[in-house]
Amino acid sequence: MIRIGDVALPDFPLLLAPMEDVSDPPFRRLCKQHGADLMYSEFISSEGLIRDAMKSKQKLDIFDYERPVGIQIFGGDEEAMALSAKIVATVNPDIVDINFGCPVKKVVCKGAGAGVLKDIDLMVRLTKAVVESTTLPVTVKTRLGWDDNSINIDEVAERLQDVGIKALTIHGRTRAQMYKGEADWEPIARVKNNPRITMPIFGNGDIDSPEKALEYKNKYGLDGIMIGRAAIGYPWIFNEIKHYFATGEHLPAPTIEDRVEAARNHLTWAMDWKGERLGVVETRRHYTNYFKGIPHFKEYRQRMVTKDDPADVFAALDEVLDKFSVQV
Ligand SMILES: Cc1cc2nc3c(=O)[nH]c(=O)nc-3n(C[C@H](O)[C@H](O)[C@H](O)COP(=O)(O)O)c2cc1C
Repeated sequence: MIRIGDVALPDFPLLLAPMEDVSDPPFRRLCKQHGADLMYSEFISSEGLIRDAMKSKQKLDIFDYERPVGIQIFGGDEEAMALSAKIVATVNPDIVDINFGCPVKKVVCKGAGAGVLKDIDLMVRLTKAVVESTTLPVTVKTRLGWDDNSINIDEVAERLQDVGIKALTIHGRTRAQMYKGEADWEPIARVKNNPRITMPIFGNGDIDSPEKALEYKNKYGLDGIMIGRAAIGYPWIFNEIKHYFATGEHLPAPTIEDRVEAARNHLTWAMDWKGERLGVVETRRHYTNYFKGIPHFKEYRQRMVTKDDPADVFAALDEVLDKFSVQV
């Protein structure tokens, strides 16, 4: 069993990555249903939370069925981070996570996200401020370093553990790499093998199949893995990996019925959460992913992403089922 503070997880847990505009409650519910062991919210701006920005506040919505769930915050100001951790605690998540990995310019420029990889002292101060402002376990997600010449994850891990974080997820890329190249898991394994490190270390980057998950599990000896992009439109990845670990066999691929059901649930849950209008609009970006690889899907997709009435979208999904179910 793995422990993050008082949160107990099964051995070698599979984590759903925090992903802006993706890891919201409807998507998390699908991932939970299909085997994710720990999930994180989209990142939330500490300044936005303090300003009481509606968009930031809505990202605090969590539901009991998805526990354990962590809420991720980012920011470059100690006071704002401490205060926002307190705001986060009011909705009672299981974990508060700090993002020190976001490579996007608008975040980095404010000294937040991966920006702090250039300033470990600041990173430590920000983390300490959060740890001291909450009784919840605090975790961190970060990258290897700023660029190839400044890989500093070894020092970062020790110093963040020393100020009280309870787990660390490492994306095996530098900020300079953004999402290019292949994630390098060697430095992540090095952190795990550091005898000074006692907290769980989770690896992240490019896991997109049960084979790769098993290979990396065996090769790097980490405490678990976090999956991002491969789960988008494919929440089945979690149970597929677990089944493969347990049996060495592949689960059958999701059928068209499974895919339609996932898309239908996604839309229904998005409408339950955000109301009909926003639910319809915000689910649009997901249909292509659920039906990846299905030939001649374009016509149906076109309807799913243009119709405002959910009945029309459900009708298009029903037609997809009729048309494709025998072929897949
Ligand atoms: C659309 C998208 C949004 C993301 N948003 C966040 C975020 O809000 N917080 C964060 O820590 N990482 C974010 N990431 C990075 C992922 O959590 C993850 O580290 C990265 O995608 C590598 O993992 P993967 O190869 O399994 O996708 C995002 C990635 C994507 C693709």
